[in-house]
Amino acid sequence: MFPADAPVVDHLAARRIRDVSEVLTHTRCMVDQPLREAVRLLPDPLRHFAGYHIGWWDENGSTVVNDGGKTIRPALVLLSCEAAGGDPADAVPAAVAVELLHNFSLLHDDVMDGDLTRRHRPTVWSLFGTSNAILAGDAILGLAPRILSATGSEHALTAIDWFGKCVVKLCEGQAADISFSERVDVGIDACVAMARAKTGELLGTSCALGGLFAGADRTQITALREFGSEIGLAFQLVDDLLGIWGDPAVTGKPVRSDLVDRKKSLPVTAALGSGTQAGRRLAELFHQEESDAGLLAELVEEAGGRDWAMQTAEQAFARAKQWLEQAGLDKVAGGELLALAALTCRRNK
Ligand code: IPE
Ligand code: IPE
Ligand code: MG
Ligand code: MG
Repeated sequence: MFPADAPVVDHLAARRIRDVSEVLTHTRCMVDQPLREAVRLLPDPLRHFAGYHIGWWDENGSTVVNDGGKTIRPALVLLSCEAAGGDPADAVPAAVAVELLHNFSLLHDDVMDGDLTRRHRPTVWSLFGTSNAILAGDAILGLAPRILSATGSEHALTAIDWFGKCVVKLCEGQAADISFSERVDVGIDACVAMARAKTGELLGTSCALGGLFAGADRTQITALREFGSEIGLAFQLVDDLLGIWGDPAVTGKPVRSDLVDRKKSLPVTAALGSGTQAGRRLAELFHQEESDAGLLAELVEEAGGRDWAMQTAEQAFARAKQWLEQAGLDKVAGGELLALAALTCRRNK
C-alpha cells in the first residue's frame, strides 16, 4: 500500500505528445532487436533473403543503412496498447508478429504482381528467384505464432487465433485482387471489399492486438479494430493513387506498374464504373495490350477515379476518427494514433 499522500504519477499523462516521425522512429527502436532475433532463427539462405528484404543487408549479406519499411503496423500495435491503458512493452511481440506477416505478404505480393522494385531496391524474387521469395515469405510467417506463444501471456492463444484469421483474410483479398485482372465485371463494392481484406484486415488486427495486450475490454477492442480497418482502406486507396501518380524516387516502388499490368485498383475500378465518356474510353483501351499507361492514367483522372479515391480515403479517415473518439482512449497515445492515421491517409510514400 502507498501512503495516502504519496504523489500519483500517471506516466501516460506525464509524457509529451510526439510527432509521427518520432513515433515511427521509437517503434523501430522497440521492434528492431526482437525482429532480428526472430530472423536469426531462420536457416540460411532463407535468413539472408529475409534480411535483404527487410533492409538490413545487401544482396551479398553486407550490412546496409536502409530505412526499410515505414513500420506503420507495429506502431499501430504499440500505440493501441498504450492508448488502451497498457504498457507498450507488453505488445512488442505482437508488433513484431504483424511486421513479419506484413513482410511475408510483400515478398509474395511482388511475385504475384511481377514488380521489380520495393523500398528503393530490387525485389527478392527478381534477385534470388521466385521460389526463394516464396520460401522466405513462408518462413518468416512461420516465425510469428512462435513469437506470440513465447510471450507466455494469458492473451497468447487469442492473439494467435486473431493472427491466423488475419492471414486467411489477407490471402482472400490477394486472391480477389488477382482474380479481378481476368474479370471485366468488377464493381466498386467488390473492389472495396478486396482492399479491406488484403490491407484493412492487417491494420485492424494490429490495433486489436494492441488492445488485447493492454487487457482492454471487448468494446474498446472492437473500436480499435474498426479504426484500423478504416485506416487500412484509406491506406490502400492512397497506395493505389501513389501507384499511378506517385513519385517512384519517394515511394521506392515502380509507378504505373498497376496500369501496365491492368490491375483493377480502386481508382481504376471507380473510373471504369463511372458512366462517363472517359470511363467508356478507358474500358475500351484497358483490354488492348498496346495501350499506353500514361493515357490510361489520364482517362482514370478524367473519369473521376482520382478524385473518388481521394474523397473515399477522407471518408474512411473520418469514420476511423469516430471509432477512435468512442473508444475512450488515453489522450496522449490516442492523439498520436490519430496523427499516425492522418499521415497514413495523406502520405506520399
Ligand atoms: C505496402 O505497405 C503494402 C500495402 C498494403 C499497400 P507499406 O507502404 O506499409 O510498406 P512498407 O513496409 O512501408 O514498405
Ligand atoms: C497490397 O498489395 C496488399 C498486400 C501486399 C497484402 P499491393 O500490390 O496493392 O501493394 P504494393 O503497392 O505492391 O505495395
Ligand atoms: Mg504489389
Ligand atoms: Mg498486389
